[in-house]
Amino acid sequence: MAVMEKLTSQDAIALENQYGAHNYHPLPVVLSRGEGVFMWDVEGKKYYDFLSAYSAVNQGHCNPRIVGAMVEQAKKLTLTSRAFYNDMLGVFEKYASEYFGFDKLLPMNTGAEGVETAIKICRKWAYEKKGIPEHEAKIIVCENNFHGRTTTIISFSNDEDARKNFGPYTPGFIKIPYNDIEALKTALKSEKNIAGFLVEPIQGEAGVNVPDEGFLTKAKEACTAHEVLFIADEIQTGIARTGKLLAVDHENVKPDMLILGKALSGGVYPVSAVLADDDIMNVIKPGQHGSTFGGNPVAAAVAMEALEVVKDENLAERAETLGQLFREELNNYIENSTIVKLVRGKGLLNAIIINDSPESSTAWDICMALKENGLLAKPTHGNIIRFAPPLVMTRDQLLDCVNIITKTLKTFEK
Ligand SMILES: Cc1ncc(COP(=O)(O)O)c(C=O)c1O
Repeated sequence: MAVMEKLTSQDAIALENQYGAHNYHPLPVVLSRGEGVFMWDVEGKKYYDFLSAYSAVNQGHCNPRIVGAMVEQAKKLTLTSRAFYNDMLGVFEKYASEYFGFDKLLPMNTGAEGVETAIKICRKWAYEKKGIPEHEAKIIVCENNFHGRTTTIISFSNDEDARKNFGPYTPGFIKIPYNDIEALKTALKSEKNIAGFLVEPIQGEAGVNVPDEGFLTKAKEACTAHEVLFIADEIQTGIARTGKLLAVDHENVKPDMLILGKALSGGVYPVSAVLADDDIMNVIKPGQHGSTFGGNPVAAAVAMEALEVVKDENLAERAETLGQLFREELNNYIENSTIVKLVRGKGLLNAIIINDSPESSTAWDICMALKENGLLAKPTHGNIIRFAPPLVMTRDQLLDCVNIITKTLKTFEK
């Protein structure tokens, strides 16, 4: 531990560079503590977190209730595998199923596993319930999607970095433009053997692309008309982030399958889940899917507490109110700005579009300057900066952050 205590930011970065695979390009800040909306680096500098670990930390860093639930459970029982029952999983499954309004839940760990699970269930449902000939089922996905990093999921990505040299790719996916109801209807009509439509209700990684109002409703209707499962990937948008419990709630759409991850655990412990009603979920039988850690008692305890916190602290309402304030303030700034073209988003999932090419380093440079000024955010797709603070932020803290952001942007105006 003596060595660890002396670690500087430079040391920590050098260690990762030497001993870690280079599969990320982090901002050069080394964090060692988090509490609520704040994080501290190893030198003790304090930052507002404006990313929330890609919306995993909606309930705030090291939320004492969630950490407490984890510690209590960890002292009793951590892992049984699913070879045996444990006294937490069923309680969690009932709690979360009722919370989100589905008959059943299938627990996994990471978001990508949740998406893989939904794809498997969808295909099996298609063969056994819809009568699609074996190996012929297709799932419609959207351009610029982000659903994770497994081999199957990157097979239907159109991000070349994510895909190149990872083939051969998994077949069975059809891509249509996002937010294009006519393209969806055409695909549903013209293609045979469609089993599902997998969609992010707001595309997070792609740069917070909010679809037109009515798109989700019409998409669900079209899917129902063609006996196709509407699968909502709410891993990033779910659990109060966009101002409702789920982003589909903005249009009162109930997906046939719901995929959750990230904030399902408040960023404390990996927990993901797929929820569906019996007619869909019951296609899965023993031996057909699972994970050693999926549904472990610590995950169950953590997820239940994380969901309780969302309700008790009215995080959806807070995200809605603070999000509106954030966009209002940023829009005021943008009126006279040459460096920012647009702010867009819902609730506290927002992004600004920087007035420079995606190949430029401007957005990265702005994030570096924000870091210097005490706020951590990260560019996505070159010239977009996503802003997604923990939902436990207060109005005063949000205004303080707006001040840091606008002050920083001013130094980049031409
Ligand atoms: C919409 C969406 N789906 C899936 C994932 C993958 O989750 P994980 O990184 O936990 O595998 C992400 C992660 O950013 C996401 O935003």
